[in-house]
Amino acid sequence: MYTTGVSAPQGVWWKPAHKSEKVWFTIAFVWCMILFAMMPIWHLRGEQNPSGIRAKVEPAAYVARVQQFVRDYGTGESENGIPIVAPPPGADIYLLAAQFQWSPILDLEQGAEYTLHLSSLDVNHGFNLYPFNVNFQVVPGYDYGLRVTPTEAGDYRIVCNEFCGVGHHIMVGKVNVRPSGSASANASDPSVGQGGDR
Ligand code: CUA
Repeated sequence: MYTTGVSAPQGVWWKPAHKSEKVWFTIAFVWCMILFAMMPIWHLRGEQNPSGIRAKVEPAAYVARVQQFVRDYGTGESENGIPIVAPPPGADIYLLAAQFQWSPILDLEQGAEYTLHLSSLDVNHGFNLYPFNVNFQVVPGYDYGLRVTPTEAGDYRIVCNEFCGVGHHIMVGKVNVRPSGSASANASDPSVGQGGDR
């Protein structure tokens, strides 16, 4: 039948819904409830949750921890003055994000477990371990301790992947993972350090 907007077509709204429509509606509703429940369940039980500790910390207090960490295990400085730290296996290690650098440079041992603490001095930064797909938000006021075990030796970069200001694109840090059993790098080795080779 030909209809226009002036005369509305007849509907079937007064007829009872067919049994199959009720069944499908029930299935859809139950599935919605399952997905809804998955949000809090995944938040609590999902594999995306960080390992280790989470605690509030004042930025100044965190900086003091980083400085103590450098005093305890520091082995030297890079050519542009970033401290290099070689902590023993099992140690708590501290990485500070600040506009626009990561400090210190970490000299780690393959196969050793560490608790990597991350926090920021100023604004949100993004920890990305290049070239791996390892990402974590670095937030001022919070100390995130992640249990990490470097599995592959190599020379890695930490790239900031959260826009943090005009120097965001130059915010590159460094992690050196030496093969298991080898001694920490010599402090005067110019190849260890954050330089213009990125
Ligand atoms: Cu720090 Cu972008």
